[in-house]
Amino acid sequence: MAGRIIVLGGGVIGLSCAFEAVQRGFQVTVIEQASFGGQASGAAAGMLAPYTENPEQPDPFFQLCQESLRQYPEWVKRIESVSGINPELLATGSLTVALHEADLLPLKTRMAWQSAYGASDVELIEQGKRLRAMEPLLTDKAVAALYNPAERHVNAPRMVAALEEACRKLGVELVDHAGEVAIDASGPVVRTSKKGEWHGDRLVVCTGAWACQLADELGLPIPIHPIRGQICAYEVPFGYTHHMIFSSQAYWVGKRNGTLVCGASEDVAGYSTAVTDKGIGRLVRWGERLFPYLAGRPTIRRWAGLRPATRDGWPLIGELPAHSHIIIAAGHYRNGILLSPVTARLVGDLLSGHAHAARVPLAPFAPDRFTAGATGDGK
Ligand code: GLY
Repeated sequence: MAGRIIVLGGGVIGLSCAFEAVQRGFQVTVIEQASFGGQASGAAAGMLAPYTENPEQPDPFFQLCQESLRQYPEWVKRIESVSGINPELLATGSLTVALHEADLLPLKTRMAWQSAYGASDVELIEQGKRLRAMEPLLTDKAVAALYNPAERHVNAPRMVAALEEACRKLGVELVDHAGEVAIDASGPVVRTSKKGEWHGDRLVVCTGAWACQLADELGLPIPIHPIRGQICAYEVPFGYTHHMIFSSQAYWVGKRNGTLVCGASEDVAGYSTAVTDKGIGRLVRWGERLFPYLAGRPTIRRWAGLRPATRDGWPLIGELPAHSHIIIAAGHYRNGILLSPVTARLVGDLLSGHAHAARVPLAPFAPDRFTAGATGDGK
């Protein structure tokens, strides 16, 4: 397959699209303004939780997330076999904990529709004894938990490192710390302030929360804005927490490296990645409520990333109507790690001209859906 592809943005989505494209025979360059995986991807807890992240209805976004979870084991295998780096995919399942009787109705409602949409083994654990056996260090104030055995997690920084290494081994040109970037959409040409310029046949824009800054050059509104996620970690032996644990206010994920990652705030703070006492304090308070052993335990790390949020919460994936040689894949908000395989495959199909073979429809994610008069019939 001929064709030179420039991928702009070296987060998990950009690297995933590059990995897919190079394996389909394209010649690929990834250009990143700063460090690979340095933004939202690096701050992620790595949860692959389409059911917990979509508690309301089986809409196209839920289906996209579910399809991506389905693709994950094979995706990780492909990346690991090329890179030699294990992204630590752990099939822990998840527990969404109810601390009050009043929290049960939403869990039961969610279970009712999700069990008809692929989560046939989801279960409401109401017996205290059983819940304690599943998660011994969970507070005895938990009245029940919704158990979803299908949900999993990866180690997000390892996932990004594995993708970067896999791309390198497959001959992708990786350009980081490129500085300011300008695009000439007609080329496409990407000009950088520090590393020179690249001419391609096609451009894939994966710049997350920064994609909106390219609206003028790309000729359409890109309503993506940054939502800061503050996150912290404790030193906790692996195995203290058996599942991913969700409450209404936070989540906890035990990693193989002996850390318990707790996320995450949702703050509007522009492009600031500062952590605040208020943001982390809320996570710490909820940690102590759910896991009494965390009381008084210091966090060993506090950090933040910027989630790329679109106006409707769904990503933009597709070709630009005015420049069909440019594809955008951005705005994955809370689910960039989860959505990386399905996004890479969809982008790969667009590059290869096989868009209609996709298992999930692209139209709901059309990049021009916020434009007046948009038809909503993306490819
Ligand atoms: N996916 C979890 C978060 O964005 O906090």
